[in-house]
Amino acid sequence: MWNWWLFSCLALCTADQFRDEAIRIMSQTPLIDGHNDLPWQILKKFNGQLQPKEANLTQLEGTHTNIPKLKAGFVGGQFWSAYVPCETQNKDAVRRTLEQMDLISRMCTIYPETFLCATSSADIAQAFQEKKVASLIGVEGGHSIDSSLGVLRALYRLGMRYMTLTHSCNTPWADNWLVDRGDDKPQSNGLSTFGKEVVKEMNRLGVIIDLSHVSVATMEAVLSLSQAPVIFSHSSAYELCHHKRNVPDHILQLVNKTRSLVMVNFYNEYVSCQKEANLSQVADHLDYIKNLAGPGAVGFGGDYDGVDNLPTGLQDVSAYPDLIAELLRRKWTETEVKNALANNLLRVFREVEKVSSNNILPNENVIEFSEMESNCRTSYGYPDHSPQHQPGALPVVLTLPLLYLWLL
Ligand SMILES: *[C@@H]1O[C@H](CO)[C@@H](O)[C@H](O)[C@H]1NC(C)=O
Ligand SMILES: *[C@@H]1O[C@H](CO)[C@@H](O)[C@H](O)[C@H]1NC(C)=O
Ligand SMILES: *[C@@H]1O[C@H](CO)[C@@H](O)[C@H](O)[C@H]1NC(C)=O
Ligand SMILES: [Zn+2]
Repeated sequence: MWNWWLFSCLALCTADQFRDEAIRIMSQTPLIDGHNDLPWQILKKFNGQLQPKEANLTQLEGTHTNIPKLKAGFVGGQFWSAYVPCETQNKDAVRRTLEQMDLISRMCTIYPETFLCATSSADIAQAFQEKKVASLIGVEGGHSIDSSLGVLRALYRLGMRYMTLTHSCNTPWADNWLVDRGDDKPQSNGLSTFGKEVVKEMNRLGVIIDLSHVSVATMEAVLSLSQAPVIFSHSSAYELCHHKRNVPDHILQLVNKTRSLVMVNFYNEYVSCQKEANLSQVADHLDYIKNLAGPGAVGFGGDYDGVDNLPTGLQDVSAYPDLIAELLRRKWTETEVKNALANNLLRVFREVEKVSSNNILPNENVIEFSEMESNCRTSYGYPDHSPQHQPGALPVVLTLPLLYLWLL
């Protein structure tokens, strides 16, 4: 009986000890998460409105994220996803992206005691000091810039600090992961000529390049081209779950070489390749990426409010300390934990900021008109494609008599 009690206490008391230690560490270095879709939930539930009583973020129910849950989870930095679905491509993608970015900025305006809208690594440090959630904007999907470097720059000025090059569809200039599953045709074989200009302009501006959702060929093209480290804002390890949204080993090696960062996704389908998963399996992904890509290359990108099932033990954003406790139980050092929590992302962000340059002039390249889809698009600036001009009509009129003369 006494032995049994001692044994139980050993198990339980030490479990609590790791959680206490996690809380102590997270009070000093809170967590920065790479991807959260709360803005998409607000759009779907309340058509983007934050002020109705039922949308109040201190009481919001039925979501993985609200203000009390963020506090309990020691979330001190969040890249909020300005996500718009692929079906907006060539339609109202830019408008809807602007609206989601505005929604994120309204979160900071309406809850100034909780959120601090941040656009730099220094802003994140400031938010940590004020015990607020540094709120950053990640635009999920290159279709949001509608193949325009002008739109890219405008979104930067409005606060976009990462852009995922594709969502689950090709853009005219970069291929997505469905290509690797055989469900989409390769179009750019990684990056097109214009896609390379997008990457260079993101480097120049200081926008973090996000490679979650892109094809392996796109990952390779970007990792060899980008002057700054990149992130995977919400992806896990392919070796542990053979899903094409995850990061394969040879890419993890490039992640190490380029001092880039993989922020682990918690979606069951990417963690266990099954409907069910648990906290310990998420820790396996973190261990795996830490061992292969390095302790400087691992972070968290839960994908909360963007997915329909999550591991047992990680049901909402308040559960982060339990995951940190598990990493401590697995003998991660305090430094390794703090790096994964925030310092790795801060290092990547600072390097991106350092690479950015006001000394280089804006990139004025434009995509070929024929590379873009949609028949409701105007063609100003592309004289060869003006609708008034009947291509071929005039030359035929002129060449026919000439041909006739030549035949004579
Ligand atoms: C949300 O609810 C809290 C608590 O009831 C209240 O203090 C706060 O003013 C509300 N905020 C908004 C924006 O409605
Ligand atoms: C998590 O799931 C795995 C695979 O099903 C299982 O082996 C393991 O015991 C589970 N761990 C916990 C703590 O439930
Ligand atoms: C890359 O790998 C090396 C060797 O394993 C390691 O020392 C280094 O810390 C890793 N880099 C990062 C960013 O983790
Ligand atoms: Zn996503």
